[in-house]
Formats: sequence, C-alpha cells, structure tokens
Amino acid sequence: MSRYQAAVLGLGLLFLLLLYVGLSRPPEQASWLWRDPNVTILAGVTPGSSPIFYREVLPLHQARRSEVVLLHGKAFSSHTWERLGTLKLLSQRGYRTIALDLPGFGNSAASREASTEAGRARLLERVLQDLKVHNAVLVSPSLSGLYALPFLMQGHLQLRGFVPIAPTSTQNYSQEQFWAVKTPTLILYGELDHILAPESLRQLRHLPNHSVVKLPNAGHACYLHRPRDFHLVLLDFLDHLP
Ligand SMILES: *[C@@H]1O[C@H](CO)[C@@H](O)[C@H](O)[C@H]1NC(C)=O
Ligand SMILES: *[C@@H]1O[C@H](CO)[C@@H](O)[C@H](O)[C@H]1NC(C)=O
Ligand SMILES: *[C@@H]1O[C@H](CO)[C@@H](O)[C@H](O)[C@H]1NC(C)=O
Repeated sequence: MSRYQAAVLGLGLLFLLLLYVGLSRPPEQASWLWRDPNVTILAGVTPGSSPIFYREVLPLHQARRSEVVLLHGKAFSSHTWERLGTLKLLSQRGYRTIALDLPGFGNSAASREASTEAGRARLLERVLQDLKVHNAVLVSPSLSGLYALPFLMQGHLQLRGFVPIAPTSTQNYSQEQFWAVKTPTLILYGELDHILAPESLRQLRHLPNHSVVKLPNAGHACYLHRPRDFHLVLLDFLDHLP
C-alpha cells in the first residue's frame, strides 16, 4: 500500500469516526448538515432507552405556534421529507419541523417498546418530550398509523392538529373513540389509493372536527406524487389552526 493510499484510508476512517460521534451525541450537540445556504437541517438522536433519529429544521423567521412532526410510511424515512423539500418549505413559513425515523427504519434501531400499542404511544410521547415539542401537528402516513393512532387516542390533548394520510391501524378503534378526539384533523389521501385510503376514511370520518382533501391523480404515497398540492393543502391547514 502506497503512502497515498494509506493517507486516503486514514482520512476515510477519521470521517467515519466523526460521523459516528456526530450521530450518537445527544440532541443539544447534534451534528449540523448543510444543504441549502438558507436552510440548516439539524440531525440528532433523542436520549433514552430507544433513541430515535430525527431531522429538524428551525423556522427562518419568528416561530408559529405549532411544531410539525412528520412520521413516515414503510418504504420511507425522515430523509423522504428532506428530499421532498417539506422540511425546508415549512421552516420558510415559520414552523419548527421535525421528521422522525421510526424504530427499525432509517437511522433508528429497532425497539422492543415498539412491539405493543401502549409502548408505541409511550415512545412517541417521550420523543415529543425529549425534543420539547409542545404544540405538535402530527403528520402520519400509512404504516406510521401504528404509532399515531394509539397516541391520538391516549394523548390527543397534547396535539394541536392531526394529518392522517391513509394510515394503518384505524380499524383497531371504535367510533366512540374517534368521536372523543377533538383535535382539528386534515384527512389527506390520493385519489388512486383504493385500499388504505377508503378503509381509513371510514373510521377517520368519525373524528368530530375534520376536513377531507383528496389529491387527484395520486396514489397511496400521495405527497410524493403531488408534492406541490400536498404542500399547499398542508400549509393552508397549518396556517388556519386556532
Ligand atoms: C437564499 O436567500 C436569498 C435571499 O433571500 C435568495 O436570494 C436566494 O435565492 C436563496 N437561495 C436559495 C438556494 O434558496
Ligand atoms: C391493530 O390490531 C392488529 C391486529 O390485532 C395489531 O397487530 C396492531 O398492532 C394494532 N394496531 C395498533 C395501533 O394497536
Ligand atoms: C376545528 O378545526 C379548525 C381548524 O381546522 C379550527 O379552526 C376550529 O376552531 C375547530 N373547531 C372546533 C370546534 O374545535
């Protein structure tokens, strides 16, 4: 091995070490990822027994009253919201926005806690506490319903808003349970989603304060198919929350 190769290898190892140290630090010392000169996306890990990786973007101007917490579907992670520009856009509109990697996805390790319904609700509650989120609007596509629905049923008083996007697990709860949740809700789904969208809508429409928006020409991951419409509708909902 030439000296040059050894130097390159050394630098590579150093980089990996820095990356590892950067990712495993508590949030107040989290590493900073620079993508856009005007937007800083902060990546960190929550403390505690099942640490959760998150990407966060602080508002560019004076903060609005709510924080937006983005969960993700089975084939996705917090990176999806960064790539789609959702983190950047919401920060430009004054919202602190946090995208999580659910346990076993992206950079978050699997967690025993996540194997029960009560455990998943607890985990989400702890993450919001750790990140000092007080007025969350929870955005929950598809698989993330496993977390969002038990949390909604138990902890909805903490939520300022709820944006289900054809989530799973709605059928586990009764009409009466949905009626009891007063959280303002925006039910969003893609017109071409013929399975989870109608199934979840049947249950979610029992939430007393909801509106429904169907994105035309979009499938189950409707935010990916119609990002512009998705962002417009989401921002309109956020901007009109009491
Ligand atoms: C950054 O902000 C400046 C001033 O508001 C603007 O002119 C520029 O286009 C922005 N850059 C990007 C990449 O958005
Ligand atoms: C809903 O019920 C199924 C099957 O009983 C279970 O696997 C799933 O974890 C439940 N979902 C929630 C959110 O509890
Ligand atoms: C219902 O939700 C809307 C926001 O979508 C809010 O402005 C309104 O105050 C809520 N109504 C009640 C009765 O909570």
